[in-house]
Amino acid sequence: MTSTMARVDKYSAASNYPTKNKKLIEWVEKAVALCKPDQVYWCNGTEEEYDKLCAELVDQGTLIKLNPEKRPNSYLARSNQSDVARVEDKTFVCTEAEIDAGPNNNWMAPAEMQSKLNQLFDGCMKGRTMYVVPFSMGPYGSRLSHIGVEITDSAYVAVSMKVMTRMGQQALDTLGVDGQFVPCMHTVGMPLAEGQKDVAWPCNDEEKYIVHFPETREIWSYGSGYGGNALLGKKCFALRIASNIARDEGWLAEHMLILGIESPQGEKKYVAAAFPSACGKTNLAMMIPPSSMKGWKVTTVGDDIAWIKPGQDGKLYAINPEYGYFGVAPGTSDKTNPNAMKTLAKNCIFTNVALTPDGDVWWEGMTKEAPAKLIDWTGQEWTPDCGRDAAHANARFTAPAAQCPSLDEKWEDVEGVPISAFIFGGRRANTVPLVVESTDWETGVYMASTMGSETTAAAVGAVGQVRRDPFAMKPFCGYNMGDYFDHWLSINDKVTQSPKIYCVNWFRTNEDGKFAWPGFGENMRVLKWIFERVSGKAEAVETKLGKSPRFEDLDWTGLEFSKEEFDCVMTVCDKEWQTEILSHEEHFEMLGERLPEGLVEKKEAFSKSFKK
Ligand code: OXD
Ligand code: MN
Repeated sequence: MTSTMARVDKYSAASNYPTKNKKLIEWVEKAVALCKPDQVYWCNGTEEEYDKLCAELVDQGTLIKLNPEKRPNSYLARSNQSDVARVEDKTFVCTEAEIDAGPNNNWMAPAEMQSKLNQLFDGCMKGRTMYVVPFSMGPYGSRLSHIGVEITDSAYVAVSMKVMTRMGQQALDTLGVDGQFVPCMHTVGMPLAEGQKDVAWPCNDEEKYIVHFPETREIWSYGSGYGGNALLGKKCFALRIASNIARDEGWLAEHMLILGIESPQGEKKYVAAAFPSACGKTNLAMMIPPSSMKGWKVTTVGDDIAWIKPGQDGKLYAINPEYGYFGVAPGTSDKTNPNAMKTLAKNCIFTNVALTPDGDVWWEGMTKEAPAKLIDWTGQEWTPDCGRDAAHANARFTAPAAQCPSLDEKWEDVEGVPISAFIFGGRRANTVPLVVESTDWETGVYMASTMGSETTAAAVGAVGQVRRDPFAMKPFCGYNMGDYFDHWLSINDKVTQSPKIYCVNWFRTNEDGKFAWPGFGENMRVLKWIFERVSGKAEAVETKLGKSPRFEDLDWTGLEFSKEEFDCVMTVCDKEWQTEILSHEEHFEMLGERLPEGLVEKKEAFSKSFKK
């Protein structure tokens, strides 16, 4: 690769490094010796650097520059067809004792895994540049933030990290001489022999390993250049490693969006919400309330991850540790998420979407009518009748959060925002009502620990099958799920004003199999009830599951939704719940010996109440 940028020669003197952090320099030097790159480049995070790296990626064929009149400063990447998603079966949590990783994680002994990785990484960056990418998860100067440094041989990763994290020299300055950082090693696993021509999307077709060492707080990722496998600040650091740090330090690292709800009177409450994939998390985070609900506003703090710590006033405070959105593109439109569409107007990297003849992007669901001609995500010509999707189902946008029109004014507040409610949701055609408030913290933890979602066509496995995804953290909890539940139970003792816990289900269907709840902006009616509940202003009635709104407790202004329709989405059917509790039992059995006794007792209590 030719470059006008100054690359730091691998044998350069320590005084040339843009940091004096001894641990970092030692780690980088060790990595250089192991990976044997041609050159080493420390990212400074400037716009100039971003532009140069993108230009190099365009030269190399990894990025296609989009029409600047349609989509200024934006690019399209097409991945290798074998490298399109997170690889959960190749994701490992390596703790000394297998039980500490838990039945929810793939496990290998750390020494055995390290020796495997040492072999794989030996010479893995030959012919390539090693990028050293310092980043902060969370605003600089916040007690809730943490520094990471990713070493990668992918410039696509380096530029994506600039969008997704606060990346560059300021992260090194914050780290200082002796600050702690999480080392994140990444390679695409495709060294280049002398004279070998590179490909547009290098990766390793045979081997992929996404490895976490929670006890030494390290991440090693081999063989993939895609998303959560490669942008290591996100799922690997901010969830799997951070969940370990959070447990040890008494806070929470969660797979949650954070949003603000503002009343017409200007009162503001923040909620954090967890949903498994394919439940419209980004849509909820950027939701626009119906115009009939005059004066109600929703603001966005984060769309995917929340770090939540007890504050001195006894409340829980949350930050979004990320700086951008790495969202699923298909299904995003001016109708489903106008704020997301505006966020994507410029300065974005799109991966595996389709290219229009005029140099813009398109994906399924963006417009009602598909364009007559496209180049699909594999680079082939595409027409609406060709029988293939134009964009991959997991095609993504990488967009700066600062461009989101609904961005909350406190999204970068170093103190975080106070959380008044936790919301847990899944995709369930029946059984789970539109909304229920748990009677207490422990019951809320039970609900979250048993939450599930029906699989859609985008996931592997039979469509419509309920998959338990506790706290939407199954793929992301970096330790034993039983210990994680226990940690959640213990958080209640660390605060005096614990948030109320809600379960929601936007996906109930009616007798015709059609969605019985309009969803999207209309979810505001549920958010308003939650807002008023946490303000002590709304009524609820006791049900077997918890506290529920009556028809008259929700605001129906501007929506025709009858009491019968409401009953259809709110019904809690004893028979369905008897089956549901049996399925909770199986799920608990799978989670095994570390399951907190309190949750097993809750299950017994629910089981009895649904048999009455
Ligand atoms: C994501 C996910 O990519 O949860 O955010 O899978
Ligand atoms: Mn996610």
